[in-house]
Amino acid sequence: MFAMKGGREASGAVSGFRVRGMTDGDPARIVDFRAVVKWPADPGAFDLLRGMRDVRWAVAESPEGVICGMVGAVPFVGGVGILCHLAVRREYRNIGLGASLTAWAVAYLRSRGTKLVRLYTTPEAENVYRSVGFEPGEFRTVYRLEKPGERASPKFGGHRVETLCFGDLPEMHGLDRWSYGADRGGLILSILRLHPGRGLVARDSSGRMKGYLVRSHSSGEIRIGPFMASDEKVAETLLSRAIEGGDAPIRIVVPGEDGPAHELIRDFGFAGKRDRLRMEMGEIPEPGGLEEYATTAYLAT
Ligand SMILES: CC(C)(COP(=O)(O)OP(=O)(O)OC[C@H]1O[C@@H](n2cnc3c(N)ncnc32)[C@H](O)[C@@H]1OP(=O)(O)O)[C@@H](O)C(=O)NCCC(=O)NCCS
Repeated sequence: MFAMKGGREASGAVSGFRVRGMTDGDPARIVDFRAVVKWPADPGAFDLLRGMRDVRWAVAESPEGVICGMVGAVPFVGGVGILCHLAVRREYRNIGLGASLTAWAVAYLRSRGTKLVRLYTTPEAENVYRSVGFEPGEFRTVYRLEKPGERASPKFGGHRVETLCFGDLPEMHGLDRWSYGADRGGLILSILRLHPGRGLVARDSSGRMKGYLVRSHSSGEIRIGPFMASDEKVAETLLSRAIEGGDAPIRIVVPGEDGPAHELIRDFGFAGKRDRLRMEMGEIPEPGGLEEYATTAYLAT
């Protein structure tokens, strides 16, 4: 299932250093670690994941007991796992800790039944991931709309858009799992709990769910994602409802650089910037269901 190049072990690859699962005493030291490492990912994502079941963190510890690196691993039921928050303190780089932490996360995800490990890499980490066996995919695009303004919701075919409520969640989870290829319901719930905004669902005239998006507030901006829809009309209706009436900037992260989702979002006046490169290892799922218009806002799933 996985081809791990280089024969690295999941722990203890660098002489004298230990790569081990995070323990209860570590979080206070992680605060210090986060202060000295230029944090490569959204700190909001770290807090979001801390409370989730099955998410695991590993740290690299020096022979003197300094926490000098860390990584996160997020397995979703259904076979997709996310590797995130890899970072090594500057003075401990280039001795193999980044690759050892990556190998630890991959081994943990495999042990939870992950068939595909996915991540979005910074340019400096790309070779580290390649050395462990990850293959490059496409870049993602970060879109931002500074001044949302109004845009009338298009009217069509008896669809309706409503605020996401508790009763919608089981149906949304089922549809999301089918459309994404794995169950990220726990992550979506965590976003709704920690960064309340307004989720939206679109239904057709028979009441069937045709799309949804999660809208959340964080650091003075509104983030949209995940955002899934059966077609462009549904997506357009959802997006126009999601941006109406707000004056905070809006951020959406979309996989790839071109295609219907990008055209739609640019058409709303969003400005896009090429961001990180997707890298994957393992069997890529072939989901059905809805089309993806944006990734999860805090963890690029
Ligand atoms: C990316 C990052 C985690 C890499 O950590 P690291 O511990 O330096 O990684 P490694 O030591 O395993 O590999 C780094 C390089 O050192 C080389 N190296 C590893 N062991 C070595 C050794 N014993 N002797 C010489 N070179 C060695 C590797 O081949 C690699 O070289 P390459 O990048 O040219 O391929 C680190 O640079 C970092 O924290 N960056 C900022 C945060 C970030 O970008 N995180 C990634 C988020 S996706």
